Amino acid sequence: MGYKVVVAGATGNVGREMLNILAERQFPADEVVALASRRSLGTEVSFGDKTLKTKDIEGFDFSGYDIALFAIGSEATKKYAPIAASQGCIVIDNSSLYRYDPEIPLVVPEVNPEAVEQYGKKNIIANPNCSTAQLVVALKPLHDRARIKRVVVSTYQSVSGAGKDGMDELWEQTKAVYNPTAEVPPKKFTKEIAFNVIPHIDVFLDDGSTKEEWKMTAETKKILDPKIKLTATCVRVPVFVGHSEAVNIEFEEFLDEDEARDILREAPGIMVVDKREAGGYISPKECVGDYATFISRIRQDSTIENGINLWCVSDNLRKGAALNAVQIAETLGNRCLKKG
Ligand SMILES: NC(=O)c1ccc[n+]([C@@H]2O[C@H](COP(=O)([O-])OP(=O)(O)OC[C@H]3O[C@@H](n4cnc5c(N)ncnc54)[C@H](OP(=O)(O)O)[C@@H]3O)[C@@H](O)[C@H]2O)c1
Repeated sequence: MGYKVVVAGATGNVGREMLNILAERQFPADEVVALASRRSLGTEVSFGDKTLKTKDIEGFDFSGYDIALFAIGSEATKKYAPIAASQGCIVIDNSSLYRYDPEIPLVVPEVNPEAVEQYGKKNIIANPNCSTAQLVVALKPLHDRARIKRVVVSTYQSVSGAGKDGMDELWEQTKAVYNPTAEVPPKKFTKEIAFNVIPHIDVFLDDGSTKEEWKMTAETKKILDPKIKLTATCVRVPVFVGHSEAVNIEFEEFLDEDEARDILREAPGIMVVDKREAGGYISPKECVGDYATFISRIRQDSTIENGINLWCVSDNLRKGAALNAVQIAETLGNRCLKKG
């Protein structure tokens, strides 16, 4: 007997990838249901070589379903996740709504798989922010070896991280540059994103940082180690898919760059591409559709006692969202539910 699975937000960027990944990884599902808002009722979405017709989440009866993968934004999640959870269906949620709730596990399976066992407190498991997921995959094996004290990270985040409307805005504004009669004012982003970079993601906080930057700090502490200090600058760039990060790490113990490279080569979920020559590193275009977190440009930072710099790239719709959610479902299945 396999699982009965719900994908909520099946018409969105993340939901579509969830369906692709469930099919690609042959998740042991007897039934998969695609849900979205009433606007999308009957919209067809692909699931492997099948097509599913999207149903309305409003009034959907989750009882009898084992797992619901949610990618519908915080507001709708607030309404529907408690309904699914109370009807006995375990929610794996992609929004930020539950990530900081101490009773809800926040999981990256390469880093803290054991946390899924805490799912029963609220029948909900949270998936981290896309920038955090790829970062902690890279930090974990290095932390195990040399204990991380502090991380300084600058992100270069693609527009797909802002949903399908974000991708449309970059596309329309880029076209409008060559056809200046059609003006496309910023809507999803705060300034024009085509041919530009914007150092602002999510709302500003009192200390001058943004919520996206705060999320990276809070989530790294919850998933990996509360003692790690992390400061982030999050930037939106005109790339459709794939988030990049320039990462500076300070350790308690000395870690040689060659050893760091060897550790990362052996670590789960990581591909090291690090040749010190033109093109010997990964850019976001090459990571699209892949499962891995790619690490390049590994080098000593000689300006601090125990420092390493590296470049970290991953498909934000996959490891940053849909893949991680499906891996959580797999981990939950193996450790707790044992069906399929
Ligand atoms: N994109 C990323 O890299 C990423 C990474 C991590 C987490 N996330 C999170 O994942 C979630 C989805 O992001 P996305 O990028 O897939 O957004 P998206 O492309 O804009 O898709 C949003 C999805 O949510 C559905 N939806 C919106 N309001 C709804 C409502 N009231 N009731 C039911 N369904 C509703 C939409 O259905 P309709 O088509 O019917 O409107 C659509 O399927 C967000 O919480 C986001 O923060 C995204």
